[in-house]
Amino acid sequence: MEKLKSEILNIIQSNTSKEKTLQDICEYLKKSVSHYDWVGFYFKNGSKNELKLAQFAGKLTEHTIIPFGKGICGQVAVSNETFLVSDVSEQANYISCGVEVKSELVVPIFKNNENIGQIDIDSHSVNAFNNEDVKLLEFICNEVTVIL
Ligand code: SME
Repeated sequence: MEKLKSEILNIIQSNTSKEKTLQDICEYLKKSVSHYDWVGFYFKNGSKNELKLAQFAGKLTEHTIIPFGKGICGQVAVSNETFLVSDVSEQANYISCGVEVKSELVVPIFKNNENIGQIDIDSHSVNAFNNEDVKLLEFICNEVTVIL
């Protein structure tokens, strides 16, 4: 966990572009944590009440735009709270990105107290995430704001 955090800080402080930094974070997390099968950033799409997919690592998704309130991501956009889903099959308001996805963790990103986006992680295992994952992602969401 400490190694992951320090490597993420190195990436954030690497002084490349915002896009490359976010892409590097996605790829680093996906390759370093075996139960992270898809890692992506969604951000509020301008003044619209919808999320737009930014950088990600993992397979292509057709869900590049998600209206506020729809799916796990859209719910986090309005609740402002981390959403840990141990078993996606139990969620009625869920947008599937593939039958292989079994659990999901979405953590909001705040800048100047405003919910501007989120990190979304999918896993191919049921019950893949615990409080350590939540803490790691909340750490990243907090640190990454310096480049947003
Ligand atoms: N499952 C998400 C949609 C995004 S994909 O996981 C990449 C949701 O329900 O909002």
